[in-house]
Amino acid sequence: MLRSAILAASRNPRVKALVAGAPLSGAVVRRFVSGEAVEDAVRTTRALQQTGLRVSLDHLGEDTRDAGQAESTVKAYLLLLDRLAGAGLTGGGRSEVSVKLTAVGQSLDAGLALDNARTICEAARAADSTVTLDMEDHTTTDATLSALTALRRDFPDTGAVLQSYLHRTEADCRDLVGAGSRVRLCKGAYREPAPVAYQSAADVDRSYVRCLRVLMAGEGYPMVATHDPRLVAIAGALARHRPQGSYEYQMLFGVRTREQQRLAEAGETVRVYVPYGDEWYGYLMRRLAERPANLVFFLRALASRS
Ligand code: FDA
Repeated sequence: MLRSAILAASRNPRVKALVAGAPLSGAVVRRFVSGEAVEDAVRTTRALQQTGLRVSLDHLGEDTRDAGQAESTVKAYLLLLDRLAGAGLTGGGRSEVSVKLTAVGQSLDAGLALDNARTICEAARAADSTVTLDMEDHTTTDATLSALTALRRDFPDTGAVLQSYLHRTEADCRDLVGAGSRVRLCKGAYREPAPVAYQSAADVDRSYVRCLRVLMAGEGYPMVATHDPRLVAIAGALARHRPQGSYEYQMLFGVRTREQQRLAEAGETVRVYVPYGDEWYGYLMRRLAERPANLVFFLRALASRS
């Protein structure tokens, strides 16, 4: 209930003005976002890699309605990949980028978004890195999976994200279990209606386990993106027949950092999703919606500034 209310309120322009007016230096934003500049992203990547973690970097921004802005996003990814490679932080799967197709023009023109994503994939290949396409709300799922199919023809290592809260996802998992298929399974972070998505946490979790079973039994590379201790344990049990390194765990920057270290120290591959940039509003609101305690912390930080 609270999650839905926060996600709905986040679309209100007055709420956005209040929240986005808080400086990036605010403690809550800093907890979830590595910084505004590409240098912040590179510094965070280096620090995480030094502790044995891998990284997926997200240049913040979504739902671009302007081709110029989509082009700047592409340029930001090209700069990032160049800097990461220059700093010796790519190669061996150590760092990759996560891209939202709406940030590169999907809502304007699917062809433009595909061309832009292709440009980023080419730069990722040149930098010895890879791309994963983030998944956004359900109205974009078909378009994103079609773009994935097109990109995989030239860049077979392009990763997908599937969300267990959608009814369709178990079937999508079955379609994406082939050799070399990289699939990040998460619960899903958007506000979705009952006809397309499970509404109770228990149903979303049960769907997550069914999807995990499909992915772990397949020939692809499952990426288990959850902080949920029960699901992490179930993933470990389902992966027992697989060699370590044939799947990975993924968690968000700033969330359950000790658990990230514990898994890495146990020999597991662990990747941290690291957002950076100044368009942090939508990302932050989804993180607040996931955990009421974050909201309380955030409101206190806002109140203490006024
Ligand atoms: P759940 O929300 O049940 O949390 C389990 C426990 O984890 C909580 O009890 C708490 O301890 C901790 N926790 C979870 N979220 C927290 C937070 N924000 N702050 C503090 N503690 C928290 N979604 C999407 O729709 N499209 C996408 O492309 C992606 N990509 C993505 C990448 C990666 C690497 C991750 C980890 C997640 C995503 N997500 C996503 C987000 C995902 O769908 C989901 O909203 C969050 O991961 C929260 O769900 P959990 O599985 O962690 O469980």
